Amino acid sequence: MSDKLKDIDYGLEKIFDEAEDFLPLKGTDYVEIYVSNAKQAAHFYKTAFGFQSYAYSGLETGNKEFTSYVVKQDKIKLVLTSPLKKGTDIGRHIDEHGDAVKVIALWVDDATKSFEETVKRGAKPFMEPTKTEDGNGYVVRSGIHTYGETIHIFVERGNYNGTFLPGYQKWESDFNPKDAGLKFIDHMVGNVGWNEMNTWCEFYKKVMGFAQLVSFDDKDISTEYTALMSKVMSNGNGRIKFPINEPADGLKKSQIEEYIDFYGGAGCQHIAVSTNNIIETVTHMRDNGVEFLYVPDSYYETVLDRVGEIDEDLAPLKELGILIDRDDEGYLLQIFTRPVQDRPTVFFEIIQRKGAVSFGKGNFKALFEAIELEQEKRGTL
Ligand code: FE2
Repeated sequence: MSDKLKDIDYGLEKIFDEAEDFLPLKGTDYVEIYVSNAKQAAHFYKTAFGFQSYAYSGLETGNKEFTSYVVKQDKIKLVLTSPLKKGTDIGRHIDEHGDAVKVIALWVDDATKSFEETVKRGAKPFMEPTKTEDGNGYVVRSGIHTYGETIHIFVERGNYNGTFLPGYQKWESDFNPKDAGLKFIDHMVGNVGWNEMNTWCEFYKKVMGFAQLVSFDDKDISTEYTALMSKVMSNGNGRIKFPINEPADGLKKSQIEEYIDFYGGAGCQHIAVSTNNIIETVTHMRDNGVEFLYVPDSYYETVLDRVGEIDEDLAPLKELGILIDRDDEGYLLQIFTRPVQDRPTVFFEIIQRKGAVSFGKGNFKALFEAIELEQEKRGTL
């Protein structure tokens, strides 16, 4: 680890000092994914990922434009949205990007102030502060653009007691599969184009008051063929972490470039969700059909030399393909799903932190080699 990195020591308070946080974020509120068939996507996330039925908006609630199914697991809320007619912006978005993360919504105390503070610093407005209400109170939301066509919505829900948002009804289903132990969103990664990483890190720094946590360079994260560069941006209290990747030159196509080609530009690459027991979570998900990236057996021959002692037996980790990494603070266990739609774009990460505050840098090489195997099968390496 470089001295510079040591100085940062991941100590958020040190990075942010006593400067006023002009955009206090309480956490991720929800993630909205535009999909071509929300009803079936909701079934997939319930069955395979252990999400629970939570809320619904559609024809039955008077919404003639689109259908949204909201599924929930502990603190994680996914909104799955499909258009109900032709010629909508949602339909165009799906045509261009495939199933894609459209909104990363952030929970705030004051959506109006969040909008004003970020727009004042250069954010491109998406939605002026807007109040919606029903018998259970009101919610104020506002929104700004980030990379690609991705949006941040600020959600102020302190005066609302209803299910999800006004306009939604409680979704009660007869099908309530067991949850998978997923707790909250740990981080969400954005892929941006060549030479755009610094621009977007600057955006998060200047416009949203974030600071950089860790930096990789392409020598850290490369294999013989593929490479990327990555920086991690975090807000003041560390609840929101956005690593930003850009492609780097390798002998063959970077996985970030493959994403950008199929996605049609910059977008959210993966959603990392936290669990307290990754072995149970991944066993459950795999039994229910979630496909994970293959990790070569050879990875497990040397991993303990690299990360030292861990609490878990290696056998189940190897059997499931779970990766291990360590930093100064502790270690972490992580695994990546294969893309969750037809295009090789968005995927999920399951992560269990045992002290570690980093993102699995030591696994990048092993991971990339695994991804390259898949790219080779798709003929896109
Ligand atoms: Fe990640």
